[in-house]
Amino acid sequence: MRVTVVGSGFVGATAAMRIVQKGLADDVVMIDIVEDLPQGLALDMMESAPIEGFEPNVRGTNYYADTAGSDVVVITAGLPRQPGMSRMDLLGKNAGIIRDAIGKVAAGSARAILIVVTNPLDEMTYLAAEVSGFPKQRVMGMAGVLDSSRLRYFISEGLGVSPARVEAMTLGSHGESMVPLPRHAKVEGKPLAELVDEATLERLYQRTRDAGAEIVALLKKGSAYYAPSAAIAQMVNAIAGDTNEVLPVCAWCTGQYGIDGVYVGVPARLGRAGVEEIVELDLNQEELAALRTAAEGIRAKCADLAKLG
Ligand code: NAI
Ligand code: 2OP
Repeated sequence: MRVTVVGSGFVGATAAMRIVQKGLADDVVMIDIVEDLPQGLALDMMESAPIEGFEPNVRGTNYYADTAGSDVVVITAGLPRQPGMSRMDLLGKNAGIIRDAIGKVAAGSARAILIVVTNPLDEMTYLAAEVSGFPKQRVMGMAGVLDSSRLRYFISEGLGVSPARVEAMTLGSHGESMVPLPRHAKVEGKPLAELVDEATLERLYQRTRDAGAEIVALLKKGSAYYAPSAAIAQMVNAIAGDTNEVLPVCAWCTGQYGIDGVYVGVPARLGRAGVEEIVELDLNQEELAALRTAAEGIRAKCADLAKLG
């Protein structure tokens, strides 16, 4: 199992570290356009192996030939947000980077599963599918696992319980049109809506929608990477380990939830083939409407992207 991480910045390097440390692949390759950066990071990681007790199976490179034959490719190349920027402000610049990186990595790894991370996430996932020409089942985006983890953390913090006792899932887009599912959030098995009032629920959801910006404002330079890299590792584990776990990911819908021909955050069963199945939860009219609105917003942005050329 070879996993390549394209982009060796904060998210890419932390994700590679987690994948190597957890032993999710036999071979992890980090690539970047910055000369020597991935090589230096890989060496630093391997020097921690004797202490941490993992196999030092990580290489850094600036050449795509070294990524050939990858089974899973994680795309983190691109600019992160700075304070005051929305994810959408990254569209033009990151589209150019995605075209370049996907064109090169896909050529040598024609059978890989692509996990896109670069923002704006939903639109970059669509672009990666277009540029690679891969079947849509093999191209997905990471956002829902991160957003759901953030929501679970905020609930656990607010209610003073361990995150392990909190279940929650968000669908929709990675941004304002994120769709929290109040009926599916539970604390120690009890529905969240029975434990807190409506205003508290709304505060938790709004904080989750704004969670990326909250970190950007605190860091002042760049965006989050610890929680994003943990989300990436969970997806890599599901695919590499063929676990068939159901995770919220940005996946290509073909009629599920009444949504057709667009990438949007939905629960998906992940395995060696990529998105093995989109799972249709029992959503009420309001939740369905919010999910469809998110999908239509992404569709419109993808059309803008096509106009950018
Ligand atoms: P960073 O600036 O630390 O790293 C980006 C890396 O990409 C840099 O090392 C840069 O040299 C490299 N790069 C640029 N052009 C490249 C190319 N053509 N080929 C290969 N490498 C190239 O940024 P960070 O924090 O790692 O974030 C990366 C991306 O991930 C950003 O777009 C950010 O918004 C996004 N992100 C998305 C999340 C999500 O939930 N989907 C969560 C966190 C970040
Ligand atoms: C986040 O949500 C920047 O999209 C990234 O942290």
